[in-house]
Amino acid sequence: MNTRTDNTILTVRTRSLGTWTIAAALACMAVLIGVRPAAAQEAMIDVAADNPGPAISPMLYGLMTEEINHAYDGGLYAELIRNRAFKDDAKQPVHWSVVASGGAAATMTLDRENPVNATGLPVSLKVAISALPNGGRAGVTNEGYWGVPILAATKYTVSFYARCEKGFDGALTINLVPENGSVAGPWTGPVTIGEQWKKYEITLENSNLKTPSKGCLEIVTNKPGTFWLSQVSLFPPTYKNRANGNRIDLMERLAEMRPAFLRFPGGNYLEGDTIAERFDWKKTIGPLEGRPGHRCCWSYPSSDGFGLMEFLYWCEDLKMAPVLAVYAGYSLRGEHVEKPAELKPFIQDALDEIEFVTGPTDTTWGRKRAELGHPAPFALHYVEIGNEDCFDKSKSYDSRYAQFHDAIKAKYPQLQLIATMRVNGRRPDVIDDHYYRSAVDMQHDVHHYDKTDRKGPKIFVGEWATVEGKPTPTLNAALGDAAWMTGMERNSDVVVISCYAPLFVNVNKGANQWNTNLIGYDSLTSFGSPAYYAQVMFAQNRGDVVLPVKIDAPASKRMTVVRKPRTPRPQKKTEKPRPVTIDPLYATASRDKATGEVILKLVNVTDEPIDAKIRIAGAGTIAAQAKAIVLTGERLDQNSVAEPTKIAPHEETIDNAGAEFARKLPARSITVLRLKAG
Ligand code: AHR
Repeated sequence: MNTRTDNTILTVRTRSLGTWTIAAALACMAVLIGVRPAAAQEAMIDVAADNPGPAISPMLYGLMTEEINHAYDGGLYAELIRNRAFKDDAKQPVHWSVVASGGAAATMTLDRENPVNATGLPVSLKVAISALPNGGRAGVTNEGYWGVPILAATKYTVSFYARCEKGFDGALTINLVPENGSVAGPWTGPVTIGEQWKKYEITLENSNLKTPSKGCLEIVTNKPGTFWLSQVSLFPPTYKNRANGNRIDLMERLAEMRPAFLRFPGGNYLEGDTIAERFDWKKTIGPLEGRPGHRCCWSYPSSDGFGLMEFLYWCEDLKMAPVLAVYAGYSLRGEHVEKPAELKPFIQDALDEIEFVTGPTDTTWGRKRAELGHPAPFALHYVEIGNEDCFDKSKSYDSRYAQFHDAIKAKYPQLQLIATMRVNGRRPDVIDDHYYRSAVDMQHDVHHYDKTDRKGPKIFVGEWATVEGKPTPTLNAALGDAAWMTGMERNSDVVVISCYAPLFVNVNKGANQWNTNLIGYDSLTSFGSPAYYAQVMFAQNRGDVVLPVKIDAPASKRMTVVRKPRTPRPQKKTEKPRPVTIDPLYATASRDKATGEVILKLVNVTDEPIDAKIRIAGAGTIAAQAKAIVLTGERLDQNSVAEPTKIAPHEETIDNAGAEFARKLPARSITVLRLKAG
């Protein structure tokens, strides 16, 4: 589903699959109107440090991820060659072009004869050069994912399989060609190839380059003749130098979020449009040459270069706990498997997957993991069974869940099992709730979990976002998110884990399928949205125990907003626009056990500053000097590749803090105060 909303336009477009929608979770959109703040706003904020509430879950803030918006291929996965194995299109070598200049003549075609590997590399690229006069150039280029990033002083690793026809006495040269077309090379010496497939691996570096550029990779030769290429790969340096690893800038942005866990591999990506297109984990491990890849449900091919092992390494690199979602027998277009005999192989796949992640090396799948280079098991506490099974019209989830639950609990009683909706037959440990809403709805529903039954299953808010702003959120969305997070944090005894979705978006035209996404990038640069900074501010300042907060903002400062009609699917009835009242100010407080600090997070959603009087009871002396982190700006401001930090938090030092002090909260702002107490 795509949604778009801003202050004047609202459209909700739904994927025309009929069987797929998140409408039940997608709340109404809203337009702020009639925000009539008085000239001066005042609020009393009372924090009861002497009456601490529940512990805040250390797992509260994590990451949700799936292949959507070119999150992995063309995103986090550092591979720079698009359609490296020539499988993206059965007929054409898409994203590849012929180079033939200076009187040269060349063609390229897909060739299924004599493949390198029938499973993973069943097709190769045949490059036939019929004429190549002196001074001419001939070969092929790859455009990458909206440009191959070419950077100065950077070591690239290029690898490829190649072979040639008998009698071909040319050699290959591999170049990176910047946008302006000047090769600034040659980047490699001549690579002589033979009649049999052989893998070549070469380091490319060019110290003459000055300006970063989006270009392409070129493989050219100096003689006429025919040669074949397969699995052409190009990697820049990766995070922690992992082979087949991740983009450094994106990993660094994620590290800033201090994520406690990673929910993977979806999302809809787990389910696939059909059973055949699910995330079939066994096909995503082992050498790349043997991974067939599959069509991802977001309408583009997934190379599966980013497979189960890569998810686990990602967890390891950022010290995140894996929250593993296992395929549960339902796919997006409605195919489902429910009968025990038919579901059994899928349950076995899930058990094998858990064994692959956690099993010692004397188990079948633990041994496999060790063979792939990781003998140590990964620690796993949470397993999610399926994704958004409320959309399964056959209503088979109760029965499917029970079968998975029983089999997993029998073998792994220590695992916490997450159900994707309320079920009757078994009691899950955790329920996964999803919310995609307007800022107003987030703010309006901030007390959602205040009254949740503490004796029931815990809650995983496994996907949530204020969906305002495209391709990344506005500041207004960040205000909705921040208000919502105060509610989750305050209720963290029941909301034990949560993660925003989607995480990533490649901002190039045609690269994204979802409107509002946390972190944007093109091939050269990346940026965090205002909502990203809100996440960073909350996660870096989580605290360990909730402190009760009372906010007394005069009722006259509340805002009237009109909620746009809901457009639920399947369409039942369209709601009439109706005014609702939302609070001007949201807050949560916590205590950092290690430092004793009182942490106060305050969200002013109005267009006027709020003069707040803050009182901290029972924390002893509060030092006058304190730290404030503030995010503010215009309501519809967004960050972008061109303006990556238009909205970004800044730090201030306060020197008037105390057990009672005044603080002006800027209009449209999120403020974190860290107060030294004791
Ligand atoms: O986050 C985008 C999609 O929203 C997820 O794939 C799906 O679970 C939800 O409907």
